[in-house]
Amino acid sequence: MYRKLLLVAIVGFFAILLWFAGPTEAQRQTSPSPQPVGTSGRSTGNFDQDIQRHAQQMIEEGRKTFRFETFGDEAFWGDQLKLHQAIAGAKFGGVGAGLSPAKALELGLKVDSEMVPAEVAAGIKAGKVDLNDPANTIALLKANAVVGVTAFAEANGNVRSMGIQCALCHSTVDDSFAPGIGRRLDGWPNRDLNVGAIVALAPNLKPFTDMLGVDEPTVKKVLTSWGPGKYDAELDKDGKAFGPDNRPAATVLPAAFGLAGVNLHTYSGWGSVTYWNAYVANTQMHGKGVFFDPRLKDKAQFPVSAKHGFDNIRNTPDLVTPKLAALHFYQLSIPAPKPPAGSFDQAAAGRGEAVFNGAAKCSTCHVPPLFTEPGWSMHEAKEIGIDDFQSARSPDKRYRTTPLRGLFTREKGGFYHDGRFKTFDAVVEHYEKALSLKLNDQQKQDLVQYLKSL
Ligand code: HEC
Ligand code: HEC
Repeated sequence: MYRKLLLVAIVGFFAILLWFAGPTEAQRQTSPSPQPVGTSGRSTGNFDQDIQRHAQQMIEEGRKTFRFETFGDEAFWGDQLKLHQAIAGAKFGGVGAGLSPAKALELGLKVDSEMVPAEVAAGIKAGKVDLNDPANTIALLKANAVVGVTAFAEANGNVRSMGIQCALCHSTVDDSFAPGIGRRLDGWPNRDLNVGAIVALAPNLKPFTDMLGVDEPTVKKVLTSWGPGKYDAELDKDGKAFGPDNRPAATVLPAAFGLAGVNLHTYSGWGSVTYWNAYVANTQMHGKGVFFDPRLKDKAQFPVSAKHGFDNIRNTPDLVTPKLAALHFYQLSIPAPKPPAGSFDQAAAGRGEAVFNGAAKCSTCHVPPLFTEPGWSMHEAKEIGIDDFQSARSPDKRYRTTPLRGLFTREKGGFYHDGRFKTFDAVVEHYEKALSLKLNDQQKQDLVQYLKSL
């Protein structure tokens, strides 16, 4: 009895002590210290609440960056390539016929229906907006409704320059308004987008001919070889435009969702999400920031990069680095989407799960629930039975085990880094041979249903 009372007294004493210590701790939080990126305002005095608020701010800032931040890359896409002039056309201060909304949609550009001005939306619905008139592309650009593209207008309304954003390649729309027009789906790869064909419209390709040391027809040949849903994020490092059998070296646009918990990113594991964001913002989008990776000094593996010093990029002011933390946070917060109801057979998927984790040995590499290995998730080409062209282009010369959730968003354009397997069946058939699995037809079909369910 006394013991119990003593215990209560001791516990009570510590509780009171903690209660008093609390405000002191909170005061420490409010003491002046550099604000981490993504925070603003004072501490609430409750650190749990500070974390909560910080997380919310990081998501909002990161989303803004992902959707709308050009990092100053209009100096490249607009001022140098003059891509905006080809989009505007001669009638609006540019060159040529201009890019009509119909043509833009055909090239896979997407329109954010929530940004389309109401009268334009009504006009489209009523069939009164001429989708063959480039003036309407300009109207959409000015409304900031073209996903991943920002136009900068002059006082007279002509487009002066343009820049691109992450969302260009890594967002699509749900087609809820019309095909290609709808609400944004951040992180879903835009497998309709023909990046190469769009870039090839640019009136001035000299930045590419200079960088790669080839003539303009060659640059155009490379850009137009990619096709929809593909891009080559390493061409400016090694100058390799074609792989085995003269296949374009471009990769399919990957998912930028479901990446939390995954250690390495890109098909060949160049680094973390934030490593890659700095890489892309500076070296692909041509934003004005700071980027450092001494691996890119290797003249044998990365001759183009070594020649132009892409291993150490320094711009003042640095428009990229202050955005990285929140951008990283936002990307990690994007969940993998669930496949639509009815798009797979539930019972077969259940049986397929057992095949995945058992007879087919998939889970040795695709470890659930991440579906990649915790740790260093990298494999030599021969382990998965393919050529090493793309892996050899990366610093670690390996392929990373792709996380498999939301596979249904990647069926268009195919699976594996270059989309070589056009269907789920083709992937399973590949593993059947490469890993000598000896699965029967039923097991293969069940496995396919399981992949569709992820
Ligand atoms: C022009 C198209 C394009 C743009 C713009 C672009 N990316 Fe990518 N992104 C790609 C391609 C292609 C890859 C795959 C590269 C590879 O594996 O070699 C990739 C890979 C990634 C990955 C790795 C995904 C994984 O599977 O691990 C992330 C994350 C990512 N991008 C985020 C971004 C962010 C953030 C931005 C903006 C700063 C951005 N990307 C801009 C085309 C693009
Ligand atoms: C040795 C490790 C390993 C095993 C075992 C393995 N995978 Fe993979 N998987 C990988 C790697 C690495 C990639 C990336 C290949 C590429 O992009 O070229 C990949 C890619 C995939 C993809 C393509 C994802 C995409 O978006 O392109 C699918 C689907 C897939 N694996 C399913 C399976 C199935 C099903 C099994 C079992 C039959 C399996 N994997 C067994 C390592 C493995």
